[in-house]
Amino acid sequence: MSFLSQTLDRVKPSPTVAVTQLAQELKAAGRDVIGLGAGEPDFDTPENIKAAAIAAIDAGKTKYTAPDGIIELKEAICAKFKRENGLDYTPKQISVSTGGKQVLYNALMATLNPGDEVIIPAPYWVSYPDMVRLGGGEPVIVEGERQLGYKITPEALEAAITPKTKWLIFNSPSNPTGAGYSREELQALTDVLMRHDHVWVMSDDMYEHLAYDGFEFTTPAQIEPRLYDRTLTVNGVSKAYAMTGWRIGYAGGPEPLIAAMRKIQGQSTTNPSSISQWAAVEALNGPQEFLAERSEAFLRRRNLVVEMLNACKGITCETPEGAFYVYPSIADCMGKTSAGGAKIDNDEAFCKALLEEEGVAVVFGAAFGLSPNFRVSYATSDEALTEACTRIARFCDGLV
Ligand SMILES: Cc1ncc(COP(=O)(O)O)c(C=O)c1O
Repeated sequence: MSFLSQTLDRVKPSPTVAVTQLAQELKAAGRDVIGLGAGEPDFDTPENIKAAAIAAIDAGKTKYTAPDGIIELKEAICAKFKRENGLDYTPKQISVSTGGKQVLYNALMATLNPGDEVIIPAPYWVSYPDMVRLGGGEPVIVEGERQLGYKITPEALEAAITPKTKWLIFNSPSNPTGAGYSREELQALTDVLMRHDHVWVMSDDMYEHLAYDGFEFTTPAQIEPRLYDRTLTVNGVSKAYAMTGWRIGYAGGPEPLIAAMRKIQGQSTTNPSSISQWAAVEALNGPQEFLAERSEAFLRRRNLVVEMLNACKGITCETPEGAFYVYPSIADCMGKTSAGGAKIDNDEAFCKALLEEEGVAVVFGAAFGLSPNFRVSYATSDEALTEACTRIARFCDGLV
């Protein structure tokens, strides 16, 4: 019998990390590789946030904290929820963790029993199904419609709900598609949830501040106040404030759920980094103007990438509302052979050949549960994006 836990048989390592690593290895070996795999902004953390962290160190705020966050941060989060989402939470309803990832993980660990079902729209962020499996639950995948920018319909959600459904994990704007649900589209989904009062919603709002063309961000508890008592509203500073390495995420939700999540955190990581928490206080309470400036840069890059990819032979790319990803379809490239002789039978083969032959690293769609596609992260310079898309075009031209 293996020394390792059988639970591990239920999960797979993160494929996005694997692609980034392979690209780094090729780079280290001297290859000219453009990485469009990483899910983080290329911008630096703003100076005022860094200064707050340095001040926290100087002031000796370097000890254990309350397990799910210092009161100053919880108050800043309550103010943020009120200011930006019209949601009323008190500090007792707030949980702060080591990244949005641990918030989601704690919530699933705190609620899932064997056989519980969790509805996950596809394509999905890679960690959702594996976290559900780690918690002993069953992911139930609902595929988005390509003509709707890969969003799911209310009918598909309705059809997926069973007496065993515990959660819907909702993510808008989405990783990997960038798709954002409009107020009306979200309302249609919350209407379905109102007919099933045993189903809770975990809203992953991580990309709230990365939205373009006037897209109005909304979140389920705001759209349908009657869902407030069965909603966990999850957010974090990683993406909006370019703070991926600081590891601070948070959530607002019903007190008993927050208490259960605290129990898990208290027995695992104890508390998120004290220094990062003070930096997050400054992120949320400090100047917010730079968010719009950075969004402008992302918008320009999105337009550049969408235009260049749509000009590639065999690629169709939707124009998403937010995040910093696009998720082009490569259905028309399937069954072909690359200039380097690789048979392109699926999106993984396409991405592997693209990396080997043209030195462009993107993540294959199967990792996100909907194929044949690939994900481009456009959180990199205009020059790198232009060069990468030129190489993708050359790769596609070579397919026969
Ligand atoms: C949709 C989504 N949710 C959550 C996370 C986790 O964020 P964090 O880095 O704060 O753990 C990510 C990060 O890639 C993400 O894309």
